[in-house]
Amino acid sequence: MSLFSRKGNALGLDIGTTSVKIVQIKKTPHEAQIVNYGIAPLPPEAIVDGMIMDFEPILTAINQILKEKNIKEKNVSTSVSGRAVIVKKVQLPMMSDEELADSIAWEAEQHIPFAIDDVEVDYQLLRPALDSKQLDVLLVASKKEKINNLTNLIRNSGLNPVIIDVDAFAIENSYEFSYPDHREDTVALVDIGAELTNINIISEGIPFFTRDISFGGNTFTKIIQKELLLSFEQAEETKIGLADKERTPTRSSQFDLGESDLDTSALASLLDEEGEATSQVEEIVSKQLEELATEIMHSFDFYKTSGEEKDIERVVLSGGSSRLHMIREQLSEHLNLPVEVSNPLNNLTFDSKKIDYQQLENDAPYLNVAIGLALRETGAK
Ligand SMILES: Nc1ncnc2c1ncn2[C@@H]1O[C@H](COP(=O)(O)OP(=O)(O)OP(=O)(O)O)[C@@H](O)[C@H]1O
Ligand SMILES: [Mg+2]
Repeated sequence: MSLFSRKGNALGLDIGTTSVKIVQIKKTPHEAQIVNYGIAPLPPEAIVDGMIMDFEPILTAINQILKEKNIKEKNVSTSVSGRAVIVKKVQLPMMSDEELADSIAWEAEQHIPFAIDDVEVDYQLLRPALDSKQLDVLLVASKKEKINNLTNLIRNSGLNPVIIDVDAFAIENSYEFSYPDHREDTVALVDIGAELTNINIISEGIPFFTRDISFGGNTFTKIIQKELLLSFEQAEETKIGLADKERTPTRSSQFDLGESDLDTSALASLLDEEGEATSQVEEIVSKQLEELATEIMHSFDFYKTSGEEKDIERVVLSGGSSRLHMIREQLSEHLNLPVEVSNPLNNLTFDSKKIDYQQLENDAPYLNVAIGLALRETGAK
């Protein structure tokens, strides 16, 4: 099937901890074009620990994007993630499609640590196992409360939810669309947001291991805040500014002090202080990256012990925190694998009358989920 042949123009809506992202993609038989997109920030109290706590600021953010970008489309694909969502690959005895549909709730109950009445269950048949006596089935269960909250919120904003996906699969969809030549590869997709890191190990287009870790950009910011006695905002700024800072400013390279009467010792100590703070922040970030790598390794170990023989070839990062200073180098060293940052814009065109490409490129790391959702075929699960 051609990548571009699918129909359906639902908006991709990603409600993250720090911002709402909306992407609109128009598909023709020859291309998929971003016709519109927007990102609007959320205050910290809107979503706490992955749970929607306050409808108002989220509605405001959604409506701000729709209005500013003059978006008329009402159908929406959105997604859930975090603790209220369980994704599990299970093997079931060979059975017909009807039998599978009838028994899925019972099967789910054996594999999911929630009361079955509290969850919505969905599944996808991955492939018949090699010996043809078993089926590989991907089970997805999400707390009903989470889905209901989300759909109520979307309806309140005047939109119509048509697909509720899972963040990790939206990221996979975006990756597979952007890198069609890598379809056969075994890669770990790692999206690092503000509160969560979504891991999805895929091989030949099949998700083999999916997990959300409670670790993200906020983890780094909070530790910088605590260790350097800063406000959250100051710590966030420090973290984001890290990449631009000179590591160890020296008098000679930074300023030509010449023969002037400047109090060079005061200036030197200021520079020293700044240099010291920077290296202190770098140290904190490095230590946290090591912890994140350890968590990612646990997932890799699970994948390996689940009997999958294909080695992970590389790690593909996305999410706002994929911008973190030195993240690629450090994760690569700890995981002993090549680490890349995905470009979800590969294979997409954009409407140059409405969209500034420089800005779009800059926003790309935030957009993987919303792009993956906007690419979904409406009518699909
Ligand atoms: N240049 C940068 N350096 C480091 N971190 C950055 C940079 N730019 C953005 N971030 C971080 O990216 C995070 C936001 O990314 P993103 O929008 O993907 O998360 P989210 O979707 O809001 O959160 P979640 O998916 O966890 O609910 C914030 O923690 C922010 O600090
Ligand atoms: Mg996110």
